[in-house]
Amino acid sequence: MTDTAEILKASPTPLDTAAIKADFPILGETVHGKPFTFLDSAASAQKPSIVINAEKELFEHYYANIHRGVYKFSQDATEAYEQTRETVSKFINARRSRECIFVRGATEGINLVAQTWGRTNIADGDEIILSELEHHSNIVPWQMLAEEKGASIKVIPLLDDGSVDMEAYAGLLSERTKLVAVAHISNSIGTHLPVAEIIRLAHAAGARVLIDGCQAAPHETIDVQALDADFYAFSAHKVYGPTGIGVIYGKEELLDAMPPWQGGGDMISTVTFEKTTYNDLPHKFEAGTPNISGGIAMRHALDYVSAIGFDRIAAHEADLRDYATRQLVGSNSVRLIGTAEGKGAIISFVMESAHPHDIGTILDRQGIAVRAGHHCAQPVMDRFGIPGTVRASFGIYNDRDDVDRLIEGLKKVVDIFG
Ligand code: ALA
Repeated sequence: MTDTAEILKASPTPLDTAAIKADFPILGETVHGKPFTFLDSAASAQKPSIVINAEKELFEHYYANIHRGVYKFSQDATEAYEQTRETVSKFINARRSRECIFVRGATEGINLVAQTWGRTNIADGDEIILSELEHHSNIVPWQMLAEEKGASIKVIPLLDDGSVDMEAYAGLLSERTKLVAVAHISNSIGTHLPVAEIIRLAHAAGARVLIDGCQAAPHETIDVQALDADFYAFSAHKVYGPTGIGVIYGKEELLDAMPPWQGGGDMISTVTFEKTTYNDLPHKFEAGTPNISGGIAMRHALDYVSAIGFDRIAAHEADLRDYATRQLVGSNSVRLIGTAEGKGAIISFVMESAHPHDIGTILDRQGIAVRAGHHCAQPVMDRFGIPGTVRASFGIYNDRDDVDRLIEGLKKVVDIFG
């Protein structure tokens, strides 16, 4: 460790990461004989025992299908599942829990909006504005819609530090703009977008706004009413919850006016061969047996992070981001991609001597898990003229020791590749 790191390490971090780590059984594992150092929470966060046990308890003690049975376990499971909706509603400060639709994840939520709101509201000649740093899941559904409807996609360019060019954005907005769809925080380079301002300007132009909140929901308080977001998507698995469950929030009046998406059980009110009538919100958008265990366990994940508190989480993760950044900036062999002010707890970088996949593999041999590649955000990589980056992303269980291991790991990369 360098002297600077020693000094930096002396300033206390606000979270008791030792206690938090102990809540995540997987963090006690070893990989290739080394302690497991997990720096890939932006891809998917690890799960605390409380989440793991919630699924186990359901399957061992009260599992049954939900919204369908008159018997006790079906009602207990339904109650637990719907309790999560209440928790989600508070978590994002929705007006009513019926505005929170359960989906497989943010990707499905964005596709739902594209295929329902989009197909009824986007027409020939309309424009959809995206930013250059979107994840593919917030690009491709809109391209598919635009192609079908004869609409076009406009892109807010990035500045060199990875922030969005707000002047260019203002210039793109017009009466043709029907939708603006942007990330809250970039998954690939960590830029924190000024979403409140983006929404304000879009609304002034008469457009609706969808926010992809995947990378924000685990790290900061989300308030869809304060933001005045029309749609807001996030996935549970990035907030320390299960995979296969997530949320698309929509303003009630928009969801009410949207046609259903998938047809099936639960989303109907009455069915005859002549005519089917649809269920009320949120069920209108929830056809078929859902991810019951994931839905139930998700509540425990949201309660867990809420109990820690997002003020403390944000301060802790900003400390890790800055601690890592200071050390990487001091290294000649590393170039950071994305240095925008106030960025999230994501560090993306390249090294001239080695491909990101080689760096990822060398780090893995030391028990360190990072993501390497284009991070499902190829336009960002094109913008910076690179094939991919190495991405270290932090969560509530990371500490400065994890950063130190990463820095030591990168020294090995330099030893091998020069
Ligand atoms: N979207 C996830 C990531 O950024 C999978 O890694």
